[in-house]
Amino acid sequence: MLLIILSFLQHSIRGIAGDPAQIAAVKNYIVSGMWVLIPCIITAGITGNLMVPGVKGGVIGSKKKRMPFIAVNGLFVLLPSAVYLNYLASEGQLDTVFYTVQGVELLAGFINLSLMFLNIRDGFRIVRARSRHQS
Ligand code: HEM
Repeated sequence: MLLIILSFLQHSIRGIAGDPAQIAAVKNYIVSGMWVLIPCIITAGITGNLMVPGVKGGVIGSKKKRMPFIAVNGLFVLLPSAVYLNYLASEGQLDTVFYTVQGVELLAGFINLSLMFLNIRDGFRIVRARSRHQS
């Protein structure tokens, strides 16, 4: 999951300096990748919640609280941005609108990446704490 996002980021940053055809190819790749990434994140959220129903506090509570931000940011900012940038790039419209939306996408993407890093870190903390209890 993280690899998909990091590859989006790397391609987006490299794409900024590319020619219009390269940019269009990158934007197309990102929209296609979203169809893999979104189900992965939804599955992580659902399976995580199923493992710890009713827990609100501590590390688990923090993970749960981050999920709505990740979901809203992903579905209402990142997905529409990716689709719109793909459309603009396919039309060859690499103007101020394109780079403004691209800026918003990078910022929102960085926020989601950071929140997911925190969820991964806390996931490992939960597993480590449990293995200490068991031994
Ligand atoms: C983007 C969303 C999420 C990511 C990337 C993520 C990532 C991870 C990772 C990497 C682990 C360690 C797995 C292992 O080493 O076995 C983990 C464990 C865990 N996560 Fe998440 N997580 C996410 C969302 C959630 C949510 C919403 C919850 C609900 C509170 C949750 C609850 C848990 C629990 C309870 C564990 C311990 C699993 C076990 O007991 O084996 N996660 N998570």
